[in-house]
Amino acid sequence: MLSFARRRYLLSFLAVGGLLATWGTMLAFSWSGKLGTIALAPWVALLGFDLGLIGGVAAAALAVVAWIFAMHVDDAAWDNVQVVVRSLAMVVLGVISALAGLRLRAQERALRGTATLQTALIDATLDGIVLTDADGRVLISNKPLRRMSMELGLPLEGTVPERLLAVADKVTEPERYRERMIQLAREPGAATIDEFEVAGTGRVFRGYTAPVAEGRIWTLREVTADRELDRMRDAFVATVSHELRTPLTSISGFLEMLEDEEHALGDAGRQYLDVIRRATERLHALLEDLLLVAQIEAHRIELELAPVDLGELARVSAESAHPAAIEKKIALEVVTDDPPAVLGDATRLAQVLDNLVSNAVKFTPEGGTVTITVGTNGKGAKLVVADNGIGVGPDEQRQVFTRFFRATSATRRAIPGTGLGLAICHALVEQHGGTIEFRSREGEGTEVVVTLPAA
Ligand SMILES: Nc1ncnc2c1ncn2[C@@H]1O[C@H](COP(=O)(O)OP(=O)(O)O)[C@@H](O)[C@H]1O
Ligand SMILES: [Mg+2]
Repeated sequence: MLSFARRRYLLSFLAVGGLLATWGTMLAFSWSGKLGTIALAPWVALLGFDLGLIGGVAAAALAVVAWIFAMHVDDAAWDNVQVVVRSLAMVVLGVISALAGLRLRAQERALRGTATLQTALIDATLDGIVLTDADGRVLISNKPLRRMSMELGLPLEGTVPERLLAVADKVTEPERYRERMIQLAREPGAATIDEFEVAGTGRVFRGYTAPVAEGRIWTLREVTADRELDRMRDAFVATVSHELRTPLTSISGFLEMLEDEEHALGDAGRQYLDVIRRATERLHALLEDLLLVAQIEAHRIELELAPVDLGELARVSAESAHPAAIEKKIALEVVTDDPPAVLGDATRLAQVLDNLVSNAVKFTPEGGTVTITVGTNGKGAKLVVADNGIGVGPDEQRQVFTRFFRATSATRRAIPGTGLGLAICHALVEQHGGTIEFRSREGEGTEVVVTLPAA
């Protein structure tokens, strides 16, 4: 109906029809005086509106001529003033209507232009984008989204959550996916990020949603290549660390044998031996971290759970960090109110503590302080490792738990490290059902807060 009404010159045809009908009535009933030019005015306005200036003036002239003709047929009396006044009125009406029509069409063109540009803009991205109303019904979508929907086999009908839910059986974790989608449909107010893999094809997609005024915007991005790269990196790290392990074991073995012969070595020999020993230890630590990260990635860490005394672990950890602290004249302190035992894997929790404490010592300049506080937190325990060292800038704090990430405050000062420690801590703490938080102020210090559930 609307598209029919929009057809060009439709109004003109109607107006000409109306004009003729009115004029016919005038002639048929000799009503030229009764109706007058005013009865023809609507048709003049319509013609002007539809045809523009020339059309408007021509329609005005036509109306006046038609009226004069009708008056003539009716033998009615008319004078020049009447004709001039009526002609003027008709021309003004025709011109004004023409201007209104022109203006409206110009606006329409501008709007169409903007809409075309906007469509081109959202079509030109690689991400699929769709805007829905508050109930999830599609308002606008872009080309990449329509392409991805087709490739994923999404149905063409229904709200977006319904369509997404319809392909639950095609993803690798249908249960989790279903749960998330239902949750999404239920909480239209929250912004979300989800990732899912299509079974069989190995294609991985990430979906973002965010509420916008009275609706929601959904973005779908294919991240298969990123995931593939991650997998390759993990595989590479795992292989290299495995391969390095054998020669390193052999070096350690021969080092031990050399140590037995240490008395036979000269001063220089003993110095060399010391360097080799320290380098081997560092390599060992690095390899252990790499292997642990690979295990964490492959979900191959098994926790041996037992009640663990965190206070005791903190004391042991402080003990082992003692030499490094002494060397930098750092005051290392343990404060504990002996909280209840937590359920955990003592070895893994010790690793967490060692990492945090060694970081605190490493990233604190000479003369600083490092405090390990072990306290109660509800039913569980809370561990805080605080220092007044170099800290991390606000933009980088979110990334400290990412593998291989090192903050610029550390790299600028050429403080050695691999960026694996906090990633390991994060994974281990999460596996314990706890939380870990990194709070820092650049140049002032850092506080890492770990909470663990009770035994
Ligand atoms: N206590 C701290 N003070 C300042 N920066 C820290 C602290 N702990 C961690 N960081 C920052 O977080 C990064 C990641 O830590 P981590 O994973 O332990 O790596 P690494 O110790 O090998 O550098 C560090 O490189 C450092 O930039
Ligand atoms: Mg570290």
